[in-house]
Amino acid sequence: MNDLTPSLSSPALDQAHIGIIGAGQLGQMLALAGIALGHRFTFLDPSAQPPAARLGRHIQAEYDDERALAQLAVECDLITLEFENVPVSAVETVTRHNQIYPGAQALASAQDRVHEKRYLTSLGVPVAAYRAVDCLEDVHAALADIGCPAILKTRRLGYDGKGQAVIRSVADAADAWAQMGGHAAILEQMIPFEREVSIVAVRSVRGELAFYPVGQNRHVAGILYRTDIHPEDPAQSTAEGYARLVLEGLDYVGVLAIEFFEWDGRLIANEMAPRVHNSGHWTQNSAVTSQFENHLRAILGWPLGATDRVGHCVMLNLIGTIPERMALLAIPGVHLHDYGKEPRPGRKLGHVNITAASPEQCAGRADAVARLIGSE
Ligand SMILES: Nc1ncnc2c1ncn2[C@@H]1O[C@H](COP(=O)(O)OP(=O)(O)O)[C@@H](O)[C@H]1O
Ligand SMILES: [Mg+2]
Repeated sequence: MNDLTPSLSSPALDQAHIGIIGAGQLGQMLALAGIALGHRFTFLDPSAQPPAARLGRHIQAEYDDERALAQLAVECDLITLEFENVPVSAVETVTRHNQIYPGAQALASAQDRVHEKRYLTSLGVPVAAYRAVDCLEDVHAALADIGCPAILKTRRLGYDGKGQAVIRSVADAADAWAQMGGHAAILEQMIPFEREVSIVAVRSVRGELAFYPVGQNRHVAGILYRTDIHPEDPAQSTAEGYARLVLEGLDYVGVLAIEFFEWDGRLIANEMAPRVHNSGHWTQNSAVTSQFENHLRAILGWPLGATDRVGHCVMLNLIGTIPERMALLAIPGVHLHDYGKEPRPGRKLGHVNITAASPEQCAGRADAVARLIGSE
């Protein structure tokens, strides 16, 4: 640690004005952590009343609005983002005026599923067999190589399972291709995984690295529903090794998450997110330092906080509706995080972190919360 302290920390950043591109729930939670550390925030987001706007100044503008981006860059001490689909050109605009973390190179690698898989492969991180496809003929040729079942995804702008179609047999190919809406796509081998896990990692401006305990993720209809943190997860050391390669390879600054399939004792990387991640929300209530605080510490060049788990925990997303609060909060160990959004089917409205003293107690409390979620 000694070589990392303290001459590089800029006094100007002790109480920083931080600009965030995007003002959704991730921006909200970054600001909640940052305000406690003495910082203030300005957000750029095209929505009228995004969640984080309650916590700072809101510049309402499109993500490719050069003037608004320049304004954000000039007004703030440094810039970060909560949304990885910001155009790379927008990040380059900001870079002309100020420092932004993560930078254009990391975003470019994560925004396009083909670039992402190429990058991971170049590091020796295993990925599913894949082919880039631009037309129905390409899909057929790729299926002949990869076989069925397979999954077709748009290369860009997919999230929460959107822009994806499963191909069970060659007869599904035309339908699946039609669902891509003419966008460039990727055909991936369907992995018959045993588990899905993810690791949240953080690297500071000064090169300090830290890894959170691996989470096991369950999805419903392509949307993350639940993250369990198992003590001493067998995937930990492999996931950490891959994350180290990814972060150091990009000279990455900030929090980054990598999602994996666990199949036959191997970890196969699915995708990476160059930002704080839903599978790391448990850290707000059950880690020594939350992923949100550590992201800010990382970009400010502050020492990273410990990433150890404290007690036992489960995170459950609240999708489409939030259960009755009195009933929810009457369950011991329940911590509600409400994003203040208008309810809409399939929309992430909040999450619940459940803390407990033992795995059994945690499972019981999670069942009680799941019953409330299910009964809405
Ligand atoms: N190649 C694959 N094999 C098996 N399941 C997959 C594959 N790709 C995606 N999935 C399933 O779909 C979910 C969402 O896909 P993902 O690539 O993570 O896109 P998104 O950007 O929408 O999160 C994954 O978490 C996994 O459950
Ligand atoms: Mg995903």
